Amino acid sequence: MPAARVRIGIVGCGKISDNHFQAYRRNPAVEVAAVCDVEPARAREFAAARGIPAAVGSVRELIGLGVDAISVCTPHPTHEAVVLEAVEHGVHVLCEKPLSITSGSVARMIDAAAEHGVVLATVFQRRFWEAARRIRSALDEGLLGTPMLGGVQVLLSRGAEYYDSAPWRGTWAADGGGALMTQSVHYIDLLTWYFGAPVEVSAKAGNFTHGDAIEVEDTAAAVVTFASGAIATVAATVSASPNMGMSLTLTGSNGATVRLSEYPEGSDARIEFWAVPGALEAGEAPLAAGFRADKTVDEVNADLQPLHARQLDDFVDALRHGRSPAVTGADAIRSLHVIEAIYESARTGRAVRIPGPDDAPEFEHLAATAGAAPAEAVTGA
Ligand SMILES: NC(=O)c1ccc[n+]([C@@H]2O[C@H](COP(=O)([O-])OP(=O)(O)OC[C@H]3O[C@@H](n4cnc5c(N)ncnc54)[C@H](O)[C@@H]3O)[C@@H](O)[C@H]2O)c1
Repeated sequence: MPAARVRIGIVGCGKISDNHFQAYRRNPAVEVAAVCDVEPARAREFAAARGIPAAVGSVRELIGLGVDAISVCTPHPTHEAVVLEAVEHGVHVLCEKPLSITSGSVARMIDAAAEHGVVLATVFQRRFWEAARRIRSALDEGLLGTPMLGGVQVLLSRGAEYYDSAPWRGTWAADGGGALMTQSVHYIDLLTWYFGAPVEVSAKAGNFTHGDAIEVEDTAAAVVTFASGAIATVAATVSASPNMGMSLTLTGSNGATVRLSEYPEGSDARIEFWAVPGALEAGEAPLAAGFRADKTVDEVNADLQPLHARQLDDFVDALRHGRSPAVTGADAIRSLHVIEAIYESARTGRAVRIPGPDDAPEFEHLAATAGAAPAEAVTGA
């Protein structure tokens, strides 16, 4: 990577791309050299409004302009083709979540990036909250024991106007899923960041309130078992009204229980309570003054911009110093395994096993029974 500023290209000029532009614009080590969109007029408009020197209509042309790295802000099903084209030309990549809608596709991207010696990072900006990092650090320091029980609760609101805003939304082929794949993936990522490799899932999911507006699930509930033997529940919906945000609760083997919550969606996560043996720290009430349950998706995205900035700064720093970014392409695999297994379990009515490394279980007496129920393995890992 040259000592000069990193030349970035942004691919896709839709809702989230301005979060990327604003983050790069504030980073003195970056030059946003160009943008591209399959709708070239959209790219031109985006570039003109922000003083970006070039706007083109394809990834190939963007790469031809000599960018060092790209930010991929296109719909999920396009990610693999865009990422592979960049990687094969030696261009580093930061790709929006979900990196892909199948773990097999993610594996192909990881292999290609390794083969061509470039960085592949994926956006999970919620890992950059202070509250999220505090839990990770406490686990590293042994303050919470071994994670034993987890609970993810996603109580969001996405109505017809959201699904109508782009033709790819709410479809299996393009969105790859609903409340889980597009919204809950952030919290399932946090869960796997804390609990490690998932090994088995039992779940139910369905479209409860969206009728013909979507093909995918608006609501799901699952029990996830991890290689350690730990267990967690995921309860997710986009049918909540008003939008009540998201939370994650973790109980460790020493009895410690901590809860991170994002009320309302897009706000800075806070520690709702932090109960470690001998000490109890309580946060402010969830519905504190100023709580807003009526934010639009654009407002939520704008509120998440400071987190994008932290993750994009980390990506640029990783490129400049030849180190691995905080969230790599490989980090996308575990959350996708969980989501794929939830869909499979909901479809078949059976527990689904996730093939993975033979981690030594922490809770051996429980892990031994984790596969006792009839279980189907998900493939494509
Ligand atoms: N990290 C977050 O919190 C967050 C928030 C919102 C969206 N996202 C993710 O960002 C991605 C984009 O979402 P969005 O809401 O901005 O979508 P969008 O539909 O608003 O914008 C996508 C843009 O990409 C363009 N495009 C499509 N295919 C392309 C291609 N092959 N090459 C170049 N341009 C192409 C479209 O014309 C459109 O302008 C999705 O994967 C989504 O999940 C992440």
